[in-house]
Amino acid sequence: MIVKVSKTAGVHGELLVSGSKNASLPALCASLLTKEWLTLENVPLIDDIDKMLKILKSIGCEYTLENHTVRIRSANPSYKVLTEEVGDIRASYYLMGALLSRKKKVLIGYPGGCNLGSRPIDFHLKAFRDLGFRVTENGQFLHIVYEGTKKHRLRFAKETVGGTINALLASCRLEGTTLIENASLEPEVLDIIELLNKMGAKIERKPGRVLSVAGVAKLKGTTHKILFDRMEAGSYMLLASSLPNSNLTVYPVEESLLRTVISVIRSTKTKVKVTGDAINIKSAENLKPVNVLIGPYPFFPTDLQQILSVMLLRAEGESLIEDTVFPGRISHIGELKKLGGRIEFDGSQNRIVIHQSRLKGSRIKAHDLRCAFGLLVAGGMADNSTIVENVENVLRGYENPLQKLKSIGFLIEEI
Ligand code: EPU
Repeated sequence: MIVKVSKTAGVHGELLVSGSKNASLPALCASLLTKEWLTLENVPLIDDIDKMLKILKSIGCEYTLENHTVRIRSANPSYKVLTEEVGDIRASYYLMGALLSRKKKVLIGYPGGCNLGSRPIDFHLKAFRDLGFRVTENGQFLHIVYEGTKKHRLRFAKETVGGTINALLASCRLEGTTLIENASLEPEVLDIIELLNKMGAKIERKPGRVLSVAGVAKLKGTTHKILFDRMEAGSYMLLASSLPNSNLTVYPVEESLLRTVISVIRSTKTKVKVTGDAINIKSAENLKPVNVLIGPYPFFPTDLQQILSVMLLRAEGESLIEDTVFPGRISHIGELKKLGGRIEFDGSQNRIVIHQSRLKGSRIKAHDLRCAFGLLVAGGMADNSTIVENVENVLRGYENPLQKLKSIGFLIEEI
């Protein structure tokens, strides 16, 4: 998909935020933990969800999707996940934890997803081994089977969203209590814990980022409304801040989950006003440069790093970003240079250095999901018009992006 983006003075009006991609994907996999129907509301209509539903159907799940509500049931799923979509999305690794819980075994290919530098799944596999599963790999498929030699504690070397959720899925129906140490407590992980507990799991938060999982024999169906997508909300907030004449309100959101994003945006002199479940951004004529450290929640999120980099091309001075989660998430840098962006990756310090730049329209390519959104924003900032190729990447994680962007006055058309 190729789009033409024209210089846009500002975005205006109200933007309805969809449900969270990164909470919906594991929530769909959690349906495998019960024979009963699970109802998930506020599921975003994006390509990654389509792919996940296709995979679930391929292993025997039945579902309906209407008005962002998925009703899904897995009466007798296959433990063999052989469809090619597994390699298209990152979140297919949640089928491992979910099927290990339900069938005590899984045969599955390797997950795909955005290329953000190195993205191993060693933490997931170590967690499965600690939970008593034997993992065999042949370079193409993973075969994981329960052997019953479970440890009662497992510890992640680094906070991992996917690893934590997989450990929860795999352990909540195992006998005895498991402690998961150095767990990720991102809002999306907490949303999955809430869902699993509604399904009958016994997961408790303990002090010091420890999760205690008391195994139960059986889980049941329930209804759960997925958390809002804080990355989509943040993306549009950064878009509005990047264009000098913007006045945009995003809703419905929980301000408490966007505090760092709000505070970074405010520190550039952009006006941010919170009213109930809505956040209004009034952009500033000139932006102040900032230094931002990216880390696990509650730090500024890595998923918004590329879009923040674009916005800071407008700040009067030097800005620095250090992404400690995915330091290799830098596919946008080469493309921004084609527009005249003065932005470099300093590998010795693992940081992105950004200087104020006047962008000029050119032809650029979106290499991954967040890079794609960031490049659209850059196109709106650049003089004349910018052609962006590979925009299908944005459809993986943003619902109706072209329609939403047009509705707030962003000048974009598919060509
Ligand atoms: N890591 C390992 N080994 C592992 C797993 C992770 O070394 O087995 C490292 C990663 O390389 C990274 C860190 O641990 O340095 C944390 O990665 P994490 O496991 O938390 O990332 P993830 O589960 O693969 C999810 C989201 C990402 C988001 C990250 C961080 C999904 C499907 N993906 O990835 O979302 O950036 O958490 O919040 O939930 C996106 O939406 O654009 C996206 C990439």
